[in-house]
Amino acid sequence: MDYLSITGPSRLNGEVTISGAKNAALPLMAATLLCDRPVTVSNIPDVADIRTLLKLFGKLGSRFDFENGTLRIDNSALSSTTATYDIVKTMRASILVLGPLLARFGRCEVSLPGGCAIGQRPIDLHLKALEQMGATIEIKNGYVVATAPDGLKGARIIFDKITVTGSENIIMAAALAKGKTEIINAAREPEVVQLCEELQKSGVEIEGIGTDELTVYGTDRQPVCLRDFAVIPDRIEAGTYLCAAAITYGSITLKNVRPDHLDAVTAKLQEAGCRIESDTNTLTLHPAARLRAFEISTTEYPGFPTDMQAQFMALATQAEGVSIIEERLFENRFMHVSELQRLGASIHLKGNTATLHGPIQLLGADVMATDLRASSALVLAGLAASGVTNVHRIYHLDRGYENLHGKLATLGAKIERLKE
Ligand code: EPZ
Repeated sequence: MDYLSITGPSRLNGEVTISGAKNAALPLMAATLLCDRPVTVSNIPDVADIRTLLKLFGKLGSRFDFENGTLRIDNSALSSTTATYDIVKTMRASILVLGPLLARFGRCEVSLPGGCAIGQRPIDLHLKALEQMGATIEIKNGYVVATAPDGLKGARIIFDKITVTGSENIIMAAALAKGKTEIINAAREPEVVQLCEELQKSGVEIEGIGTDELTVYGTDRQPVCLRDFAVIPDRIEAGTYLCAAAITYGSITLKNVRPDHLDAVTAKLQEAGCRIESDTNTLTLHPAARLRAFEISTTEYPGFPTDMQAQFMALATQAEGVSIIEERLFENRFMHVSELQRLGASIHLKGNTATLHGPIQLLGADVMATDLRASSALVLAGLAASGVTNVHRIYHLDRGYENLHGKLATLGAKIERLKE
C-alpha cells in the first residue's frame, strides 16, 4: 500500500485546475444504461470509483473505452443485468445501476451495498420508491432482485429523507416509466441537476429541475439517448483546495470551477476571515490575517455540505477561538477526529457535535485515512503541522481525488507518495 509523506508547515500558492465531479460522473454514467446508442462523456476524473463502475459495466457487457477523461460507451448490447457483490462492496454508489437496469430491462439483481465507515447507508428509500412504481423487490442471498416485467409506471414519490443517489435512481427509473412521476423532497445537489439536464436534452421531459419537486414524463420504455456532454467540475475537490490554501495562509486560484456550486463553502471561508474573488469559472482565495473560529451544521444542498465537514474540521484547528461542527447527515462521520487528535488537535466530541479550540500548533505524526473526505482532512492538517505527517491507507483518497499529491506539489507542498 502507498502512503503520503508531508513535511510542514508549508504555504500553498498558485493555480490548480479542478477535475470533473466524481459524484456527477457516477449517475451520468449509470444513465448511459438507458441508451441503446453510443454516448461520449468528457471531463470524467480518473479516480478509483470511476474505474470500479467501469469494471461493473464491463461485467454487464458494455463496450467502452476511457482515456484522458473521455468515455465512449455503447450499452446497446448488454449481456447481463447483475451487479455482483465483489464490485458493489467496494463502491456502494454502484446501486445507481438499479434504476436504469430495471427501467430498461424489466429485471436486475444488484448486490446490497452494505455500509461504510461513515454510516450504515441504507437504501430503503430507493427500494420503496421503485415498489411504488410497480416493481417487485425481493432481497435474496444479499442481492436486491428487482422485477417489473410490464415496465415501471409513473407514481407520486414522497421521500421521507432527502437522498442524493435515491433521487438519482428514481429520476433514471422514471425516464423510461409509463406516464408521469412526481418526486417530492428530491435532492437539489448540482450533480442531480446535471443528471436531469442531460436527460432533458435527450428528450425526457422534466419539470422543476433544481427544485425539490420534480416531475418526470417517462418514455414508456423507449430508450433515451444522451447527447455527448462534459461532466460539471467537482465542487468538493474545489472546496478541499480552498481549505488547503486557507489552512496554510496561501493564495490560490482554482480554474474550471462553478463558483455558484460553492456558495455555502466560500461564505464559511469568508466568515473565517479569508477573502474570495470569483468570476464565471475561476475562484481565488486570499488568506485571512488570522483565521477566526466558525460554526457549521451540515445539511443538504444548498446548505453546508457534509462532504466538506472533515476538511473544515482540520481548518478549525488553526482558527482562533471555539469552533463548533455539527454533522447532521451521517451517524459516524467523525472518524478523522481521533487522527487529528494524534496531530495535537483539541477536539471534544459530544454526540454528533465536535467542539474545537484553536489555534493549535499541530505536530507531524503517522495517521490513518478511514474514508474519502477524512483522508483529505488529514492531508490538510499535515500541510499545517510542523514536521513530517505520514497519511496511511490512501486508497481512500484515490477513490475521489485525481492526482492530489501532484496538484498539491505544484502549489508548493512538500509531499511525496511512497510505498509502505
Ligand atoms: C451521496 O451519497 C454522495 N455520494 C455522498 O458523497 C454524500 O456524502 C451524500 O450524498 C450526502 O450529500 C454520491 O453521490 C455517490 P444520501 P448518498 O442517500 O446518496 C439516509 C463522497 O464523499 N438514507 O443522500 O448515499 C442516509 O443514511 C460521498 O463523495 C436513508 O436513510 O447519500 C443518510 O443519512 C460520501 N435511506 C442520508 O439519508 C436511503 O434509502 C443522506 O444519504 C437513502 C439514504
